[in-house]
Amino acid sequence: MEKKNVLIAFGGASPEHEVSVITAHQAIAALEEREEYRFIPLYIAKSGKWFTGEPLMELSNFEDLKKIEAAATPCTFSQNEYGLTVLLEKKESWLPGKPKETPLHVALAAFHGSSGENGAFQGVCEMFRLPCTGSGVMGSAIGMDKVTSKTICRAHAIPVVDGVDFFEKEWVNSRAEWIEKIETLGYPVIVKPVHLGSSIGVQIAESREKLIHGVEVAFKYDHHLLIEELVKPLIEINCSVLGSSEEVMTSVCERPIGAQELLTFQDKYLSDEGGKGMASAERVIPADIPESLSESIRDCSATIFKLLNCSGLARLDFLVRPGTETFYFNEINTIPGSFSFYLWKESGLGFRELLIKLIDLALEEAQQKNRRIQSYETNLLSTKAVKGIKGLKGTK
Ligand SMILES: Nc1ncnc2c1ncn2[C@@H]1O[C@H](COP(=O)(O)OP(=O)(O)O)[C@@H](O)[C@H]1O
Ligand SMILES: [Mg+2]
Repeated sequence: MEKKNVLIAFGGASPEHEVSVITAHQAIAALEEREEYRFIPLYIAKSGKWFTGEPLMELSNFEDLKKIEAAATPCTFSQNEYGLTVLLEKKESWLPGKPKETPLHVALAAFHGSSGENGAFQGVCEMFRLPCTGSGVMGSAIGMDKVTSKTICRAHAIPVVDGVDFFEKEWVNSRAEWIEKIETLGYPVIVKPVHLGSSIGVQIAESREKLIHGVEVAFKYDHHLLIEELVKPLIEINCSVLGSSEEVMTSVCERPIGAQELLTFQDKYLSDEGGKGMASAERVIPADIPESLSESIRDCSATIFKLLNCSGLARLDFLVRPGTETFYFNEINTIPGSFSFYLWKESGLGFRELLIKLIDLALEEAQQKNRRIQSYETNLLSTKAVKGIKGLKGTK
């Protein structure tokens, strides 16, 4: 059987760069020794430069991000003479010969945040006709935008908490009006950058003074902010969805536990078992909530996944008022930390099987797409057709 070359893409110019390195390496460890696949790393440095090469397959090499760049080989996507997508190494060498090209069959996107998760990388893959795991351009872009995803959910009667959103210019020009609108929510409120993750820039404000400070801090990270009513007391429940627009499965629910009022970057990634990414955070699996609530959240997760045009895998996070069955959709992560493997393990699907399923889904989706008509054989610009246009010159 011909081996498939799987590009494991990670890193990126994102505040969650290191978390992505961990997720990718968890995947590499789980996928090792699969006969039908060959794994090729694509590491995007914080600077945005693309690298490949063996040193990237060893997690300990990432202790010094400068050194890893020096040890790895710059690369880029390209097309070979047959029009197939390849990873082209840009090794500068005095040796004669062509730079190395590796044909690619599918990309496993292991980015978190920014242009690796927001549809930009997915768009590059689409332009190169390289199947990519997870959601496509639209699902990824919507998933990254806390306002758009909630607006769509609200329109479909999915419960979300009340909030006010504004851009930096709007705040600068009419701060008093925005404060007035925000104060209709009542303090405390929670301030969030719209496009970030991992709780970066998220702050609770109990007063106008704290709100102004929180907004100023959050604008350092994003040009669009969302201020929400604070759900308190609160428990958080997450659920993962796996599948395509046609058929989805939901995982068991988890209840992540934070040391503080809101789950921080520290809680999520740097608790006791450092280096294990999202999988190391404290959590109760399956979540210790009534079965009926768990069922409602799982059903709601599947509905949102389809509604937001997602595919492959996602983790959906909900806010729940403890002791009640009241829950709100909070966010969707289209490339969940550690691929949410710990949730699927509890649902009877091993990490390796989960990744293989994700890769197969991407390949299947690409096959389906290729079967559809994507262009017309007739060339509208052929001499005959163009003749008719000539008369239009200068008519604009
Ligand atoms: N409306 C809210 N009320 C109470 N706590 C919230 C609310 N929104 C978010 N949080 C807390 O803040 C954390 C981070 O917010 P979230 O919207 O998930 O952003 P991020 O994308 O950075 O994870 C959540 O995990 C939760 O602990
Ligand atoms: Mg979150």
